[in-house]
Amino acid sequence: MPVTFDVQPSPSARTDAEVAEILADPGFGRFFTDHMVSITWTKGQGWHSPKVVPYGPLSLDPSAAVLHYGQEIFEGMKAYRHEDGSVWLFRPERNGERFRTSAARMMLPDLPVDLFVQAVRELVTIDARYVPEAAGEHSLYIRPFMIASEAFLGVRAAEEVTFLVIASPVGPYFAEGVKGVDIWVTDKWARAGVGGTGAAKCGGNYAASLIAQYEGYEHGCTQVMFIEAAEKDRVEELGGMNVFLISADGQLVTPALTGTILDGITRDSILAVGEQLGLTPVERRLSAQEFLDGIAEGTFVEAFCCGTAAVISPISGFKSERGEWRLKGQDFATTVRIRDAVLDIQYGRTPDRFDWLQRV
Ligand code: PLP
Ligand code: COI
Repeated sequence: MPVTFDVQPSPSARTDAEVAEILADPGFGRFFTDHMVSITWTKGQGWHSPKVVPYGPLSLDPSAAVLHYGQEIFEGMKAYRHEDGSVWLFRPERNGERFRTSAARMMLPDLPVDLFVQAVRELVTIDARYVPEAAGEHSLYIRPFMIASEAFLGVRAAEEVTFLVIASPVGPYFAEGVKGVDIWVTDKWARAGVGGTGAAKCGGNYAASLIAQYEGYEHGCTQVMFIEAAEKDRVEELGGMNVFLISADGQLVTPALTGTILDGITRDSILAVGEQLGLTPVERRLSAQEFLDGIAEGTFVEAFCCGTAAVISPISGFKSERGEWRLKGQDFATTVRIRDAVLDIQYGRTPDRFDWLQRV
């Protein structure tokens, strides 16, 4: 049963001309739409007060648990405008399901998938002007998140929680575009460990990854690839993306979901699309040595990272304290084929055989 949202239109909504100016060069995550969605949860009462309100600062008590203990989760998804002007979401239920998984790990309340998707649709509908034309891979990035908003300093699960959805028109995440990025490999810094929060999309994982990312920047790299924390052997994922290798004999290889990495929706979609393109999808354990030696020896000819924000970005090479490994396939031919196939579905340029799109 759909819920009725109290809609309070923004009195200071941007003019169409102002929106057009933003959409001409949105960058990533710099501009936000006129509205946001908010739903409150209170222990004993459940979810209540669903609202669409003007986008703006939150009023949060300084003792709110999220500010001290990081009890928080988020999602990342996009709305795409098709050639005929219609607006579509890509596998939104998958984000809703992952949000439930993240909430369970962080002792946050369960938000039904239907309500999650409805909240996203409410925001995209009222701010549809901000969904850019498909040109240049622009889209509306949607950020649902849940925070422990209760004012209380004891360490326990919050008894008042706020769910919010905001949205930002975006262009490519990487300034390099599809030119190929370099990735820093670290086993000095860990992002997650067995029994930790690696499979949850919670803010702390990203805070923990920053120190490694900045070390990567110092070495001319754009992102960091993390190795499993305890044995320092198994390749996991990047700070905000999953990673894939393409072998010379057509295998599309990605680290298996071990509970320490995020179950990426782009990752899952690529495994399906790759198979359709004649590649062999393989999810397995990959040691860092096999990964890097395989690149040096030419077993693996291409590599790419993937995620909602990053889409599918080719990787030129990997660097670590121990050396540098360049991919042989610097034309990224297979990566581009996969990338185009996924984007063609998202932008409605090809039939949606997997039934992944949902019209807003
Ligand atoms: N891994 C991490 C750590 C991420 O932050 C993301 C981005 O959401 C991904 C992987 C890719 O997930 P998805 O494809 O669902 O966006
Ligand atoms: C996303 O891809 O949606 C993410 O949340 C990752 C982040 C690097 C923006």
